[in-house]
Order: sequence, then C-alpha cells, then structure tokens
Amino acid sequence: MIDFKALEKLNDLDLKVVITGANSGIGYEAMRFLAVRGAHIIFGARSLAKADEAIAKIEAVYKRPKIEFVPLDLGDNDSIFAFVDKVKETFDSIDILINNAGIMALPYGKTKQGFEQQMGINHLGHFILTHQLKDHLSEQARIINVSSQASLPGKIQWDDIFYEKSGYTPFKSYAQSKLANVLFSEGLVEYFKGSSVKVLTVHPGLASTGLFNRKESSKGFKVIFKLLAPFASSAEKGARPTIAAALAKEVNSGDFLGPKVKGNPHFISQNEKKNAIALNPSNITRFFNWSETVTGLSFRD
Ligand SMILES: NC(=O)c1ccc[n+]([C@@H]2O[C@H](COP(=O)([O-])OP(=O)(O)OC[C@H]3O[C@@H](n4cnc5c(N)ncnc54)[C@H](OP(=O)(O)O)[C@@H]3O)[C@@H](O)[C@H]2O)c1
Repeated sequence: MIDFKALEKLNDLDLKVVITGANSGIGYEAMRFLAVRGAHIIFGARSLAKADEAIAKIEAVYKRPKIEFVPLDLGDNDSIFAFVDKVKETFDSIDILINNAGIMALPYGKTKQGFEQQMGINHLGHFILTHQLKDHLSEQARIINVSSQASLPGKIQWDDIFYEKSGYTPFKSYAQSKLANVLFSEGLVEYFKGSSVKVLTVHPGLASTGLFNRKESSKGFKVIFKLLAPFASSAEKGARPTIAAALAKEVNSGDFLGPKVKGNPHFISQNEKKNAIALNPSNITRFFNWSETVTGLSFRD
C-alpha cells in the first residue's frame, strides 16, 4: 500500500516526464501534480485548444511550469514518429513515460494504418511510442501503462483481434484493448528484467472525465454513462494511482496499482487483480509477438 499523503509532500522533482493524453482527465491531473512540483513534462494529444487550456490552468496556480505540448495522434504512425523526434530533441533521457491516452467504447473505426481504433490507439500507438523511446530511458526509468478494471472481463480474440471477421462490439473491443495494456506491461516487465527500469500498470477506478463524454459514443452508451456518473470519483482521485506509480519508492516492476483500499481513501493499492489471461506467460509472449508483427517493429532490434 502507498500513502498518497506522503507523495503530496514531495517537491523539487528533478524528473523528465513524457505523458500521452494529458490535455484532459486523468492525464491532465497527473501532469498538474508533477508539474507544480517541478517536473519537466512533454505531453501529447490531438487537440491544441485543450492543450492550451490545460497549460493555462496550471500556469494560473504555478507561475512557470516546465510543460511542453507536442501534437500526437496515436492513430497515425507518422505523428508518433514526429512526436518521438521532438521528445529526443528536448530530453537527453526520459525518467517517466506515462502511456495514458485512450478512447472508450466508440463505434467501429480504423487508425491511419488500418488497425481497429480502440486496439490501435489504446495499445498499438503506445506500443510504437514505447518501442521508439526504449533506448532513450534513464537508468531508473519507469514506464506506466494506464489500463482499466474493464481489462478484467476482457478477452483477446486471437483469430480476429481487429474485428474484421466477427461482429464488432464497442465495449468488448475496449475491454480487449485494456487487457492489451496489462499484457503489454507484463511483456515489458520481462523485456526489462535485469535492468533497473520499472514497468507499472494502473487503473483509475471510475472517474468523471471526457472519456464518458465523447460525441461519437452511441446513444446506448451515453445512457449507461449517465447512470454511472453518480458513482464516479473526480479525475484528480482517478489520477492518484498514476502519480503513485510515478513517484512512490515502494513500487515494484509488475505492480498493478488502483485507487481502492477499503477504509482509507489516502492509500493506493499495489496489488490489483489482473485478468488471468495476463498471468499466462505464453499469452504474454504471443501478444507481444503479435504487436511486433502488426507494427513491423521488433524490441530485439
Ligand atoms: N475515467 C475513467 O473512469 C477511466 C477508467 C478506466 C480507465 N481509464 C483510462 O484512463 C485513460 C485516460 O482517460 P480519461 O478518463 O482521462 O479520459 P479523457 O479525459 O477523455 O482523456 C483521454 C485523453 O486521450 C487523448 N487521446 C484520445 N485519442 C487520442 C489519440 N488518437 N492520440 C493521442 N491522444 C489521444 C485525449 O486528447 P485528444 O482527444 O485531444 O487527442 C485526452 O487527452 C484512458 O486510457 C482510459 O482508458 C479511465
């Protein structure tokens, strides 16, 4: 268990951080927490207007944050490569990479490279980003993959991961992509074994963010999201597991952090339940190999 109150006391963070999807929601709250404590941050997302708003909100409480926005579309490889170039130009090495951006339960769509978009943006875009930055990490770096409790009912449709043959279901595809985040973490834990790089997975619980408010969501989902709203915590609380994964001394590579420790809202759990699919080494290897094949990028190169 991690005492979040102890993390709130930290200051003068000498850290270089890269975070995706920080112009709103959980990513924004994690970025704010780190930036007002001195971390130097590059964040990527698509909307410049939301990014400007996010920076302005932080500047209103902390005069000179070291934050830079670099446009990033995780559904377009060229955009990811351009983002990586800018990161490498700015940072000689990265201390914390937070793979946070995501979309949820949207109607069927494809990325520029033709991947089903939830798998494409939530997992494969981050797979490519991590591949491109893996040799640019500092010795004690941490990689944080933001998953979800929706990973628990998730399954990998091995013979049709992009739903090209079978019927597409928005939530099943989301759950599959969030299970992909956990499987990717497990694969990275193995890849970085023997080094001091730590790989963590987190889930935010249910937090009120833009994820539930996309105009593209189906009418049915909008109704479900409305019903869930009273049970949601704030984005600030949802960001705590991410912040703990970035800063807490006691985390171990492979931990799965979540916000719920019964009876004490200030504690973050380190041992959240993982989908059994992600505990099976042959699934971890098979999924890592599949990600390498479809992206054409090998971690062994
Ligand atoms: N909120 C929850 O209750 C909850 C629960 C479980 C897991 N999560 C996870 O938490 C993470 C953050 O979500 P959130 O709840 O904070 O939602 P959010 O407020 O909608 O934030 C999502 C972020 O991802 C960015 N994004 C979306 N598509 C992108 C793309 N193609 N390329 C680059 N950036 C993209 C968005 O910015 P642009 O649209 O400008 O690109 C935005 O900054 C997601 O991975 C989500 O699955 C959230």
